[in-house]
Amino acid sequence: MCGIVAYIGSEQARPVLLEGLKRLEYRGYDSAGIAMLNGGLHIARTVGRVRVLEQKIDGDDHFNGTIGIAHTRWATHGGVTEQNAHPHSDDADRGHGVVLVHNGIIENHASLKTWLLSKGHTFASETDTEVLTHLIGELYEGDLAAAVRAALREVEGAYAIAVICSEQPDVLVAARRGSPLLIGVSDSGYIVASDAQAIVAHTSRVADLDEEIVATITRDAFHTADLDNIEVTAKLRELEVSLDEIELGDHAHYMFKEILEQPQAMRRCLRGRINVRDGEVILGGLGDHARELIRSKRVIFLGQGTALHAGMLGEYLMEDLAKVPAETDFASEFRYRNPIIEEGTVVVAVSQSGETADTLAGIREAGERGAMTIGLVNVVGSSIPNATDAGVYLRVGPEVGVASTKAFLGQVMAATMFAMFLGRRRFLSNTQTVRLLGELEGIPDKLERVCGLSDEAEQIAKRYIHRDNWLFLGRGYNYPVALEGALKLKELSYIHAEGMPAAEMKHGPIALIDEGMPAVFIATRNSQYRKVLSNIEEVKSRGADVIAVATEGDDEIRGLADEVFYVPDAPEPLQPLLTIVPLQLLAYHAALLRGHDVDKPRNLAKSVTVE
Ligand code: G6P
Repeated sequence: MCGIVAYIGSEQARPVLLEGLKRLEYRGYDSAGIAMLNGGLHIARTVGRVRVLEQKIDGDDHFNGTIGIAHTRWATHGGVTEQNAHPHSDDADRGHGVVLVHNGIIENHASLKTWLLSKGHTFASETDTEVLTHLIGELYEGDLAAAVRAALREVEGAYAIAVICSEQPDVLVAARRGSPLLIGVSDSGYIVASDAQAIVAHTSRVADLDEEIVATITRDAFHTADLDNIEVTAKLRELEVSLDEIELGDHAHYMFKEILEQPQAMRRCLRGRINVRDGEVILGGLGDHARELIRSKRVIFLGQGTALHAGMLGEYLMEDLAKVPAETDFASEFRYRNPIIEEGTVVVAVSQSGETADTLAGIREAGERGAMTIGLVNVVGSSIPNATDAGVYLRVGPEVGVASTKAFLGQVMAATMFAMFLGRRRFLSNTQTVRLLGELEGIPDKLERVCGLSDEAEQIAKRYIHRDNWLFLGRGYNYPVALEGALKLKELSYIHAEGMPAAEMKHGPIALIDEGMPAVFIATRNSQYRKVLSNIEEVKSRGADVIAVATEGDDEIRGLADEVFYVPDAPEPLQPLLTIVPLQLLAYHAALLRGHDVDKPRNLAKSVTVE
């Protein structure tokens, strides 16, 4: 969603800030802005892309300075206008030149604004952020960090902020609660950013800011304290993200690059975690909790979007392989429906970013109600791993394309290993485990073949691209794959698509089927194969065009379906790791054919940090 970059040091800040903002573009935004101190306060804001901002300040010497803050905004409070874009400053005439960028939401902004209005402040925007800026300005008495701490003591809600002040041109203040913020420590100075990707080109040394900690950063040092100014020590760590991983390289789009990376990503996800010969699953992040986990009586998977679909697969895997009753819920629904957590309940948050507001809040709610909490998360050091008792990192590398692909596979792979970790300790025999782990180890090689389906996906997409309504149908393990296939198509190509259990189709949606409507069936050889064939007959007889994802060597389905993607055979619980890939490719090509920005679909954000 919103992105923050700030710099203080000996180098020119402008290139660091603009380059950083460009690296955050993938997260989705609608406006951008920059503020710098250079013999006074200079602010520029624009609606649109970072390059528009870059052009606006090009050749403007005011923006040649060594301290500045910058922001990309995804509107929550107030429309997409230049006035509402960050940075915001306190009142130019009576203020102190306090200027701020903010991610998150100040929930009590209305009451704070009333108080500030009574003190004579006037506001230029509709944003909660401007209210916080004025509050800091109101409380400023010559020490910016002290004013920030005092203001944050009054604030309810979530924030990651970077603040500078024209009266103190050698200080940058940063703080966070509920929104991520990192401090990169480079040879030339400090880069504060909401995402490691804005830092990695300059340094791999970072300090994570903990909740409600304020960092006071000067050109050669930084120190951290809580809101009561009690000193705390920030721990430095090395970033695991390299510049290569976030560069596009020879690929036209991040999404395509990330689809093709899936075999390698799965190898990384599995590495050191399975021992096929001895039938062992070794998940270091769960180790200490193994005894408690084995006794679990119920597992609830939480997530949003693609991560929810991975959670649904986790549910099937958990019941199938570990024989623990399992369910899945939208984190947003779970947290507000007064969920029942009994002894032995384990709640699993599934998330690429580790920052999705609803998922984070859901897992906190579960923890407060006494559940053991587990995270299946990609981004190391993000909020969900910090909020959970234990977890498994996906290790698929940074995902830049807004539509999740390799992270989905990583989530499913992590859920599979988690289910087998429990299953092996509960009822799976050594022989069964050895066999299944051997199959799991073979998945990356099979994925190499499936990734070769791109040309076929393009041809099929071309034949059906003019159709505006699609159905995606599957049974059992292939039902969440149908949901995910439909989500990929709708979010990228803006074609209306619905996923559902193939049997449910007869209970209403069949009324939608008319001549030439594409119906995508995930129809691999498994326990429900025959039933799926009957469902295919049902839609065909009503005029639908059937696109099937089937098992290599299945000639029977050729006679029924109009188009077939063949994927290698695999045991039923592992089939989703293969069957989703042609659907990712189909959505990718459909979006290209419709002329859309594949990596930044309209209205979407990579990481949704508001409820
Ligand atoms: C956004 C993204 C989706 C993603 C979802 C959950 O909606 O556009 O691609 O699946 O958030 O994100 P998470 O980071 O928790 O996996």
